Amino acid sequence: MAIVKSRCIVLCSGNGSNIPHIVHGISEGFLPIEIARIITNNPKSKSIELAQTYQIKSTILPQENEDRNSELINLVTEENPDFIVLAGYIKKIPKELINRFKNKILNIHPSLLPKFGGKGMYGIHVHAAVIAAGEKISGATVHLVTEEYDEGKIILQESIPIEANDTPDTLSKKVFDIEKKIYPLAIKIFLEENAP
Ligand code: GRF
Repeated sequence: MAIVKSRCIVLCSGNGSNIPHIVHGISEGFLPIEIARIITNNPKSKSIELAQTYQIKSTILPQENEDRNSELINLVTEENPDFIVLAGYIKKIPKELINRFKNKILNIHPSLLPKFGGKGMYGIHVHAAVIAAGEKISGATVHLVTEEYDEGKIILQESIPIEANDTPDTLSKKVFDIEKKIYPLAIKIFLEENAP
């Protein structure tokens, strides 16, 4: 009997650095999913090359605000995915999609939420704030997306110790090593929790 795969859309603004690890999870047979389309707001996003490499459909939506949002909603409606994965998507998700995909949008954040989340807390800014606050541990969190930045239910979290000589850069690399592992794992947990 053929396995029914859940279909997802990946939204991305920058390097799409989580995409290869999710694709690896798929090709290894760990994740019974299909990426229907990668959508980016940034014409320079590396996710476009990644989409070509992995033969995934992709779309760039460079417009601002309402125009982008309505195109995004149209595209998502067309693809009709089961869930949405954010891979470094820094724009706000339109309310309509948040409501339509309630508890079906996943994000990964490079801190131990609820600490160091919220508007402006992305990338190196997070690690700089963690170090400035004198934290002894940091980590990554996969969570469901709500209307508020970084506030939805946590699916999975993993931590690492911060060494005295860590800089935002070194911490960022350590945290990314965790992200590689936990994003595919969290998607798997999400699929199991949402199994029909
Ligand atoms: C991830 O590392 C995650 O922490 C955050 O965005 C980062 C990916 O950004 N959500 P990029 O793919 O390197 O641009």
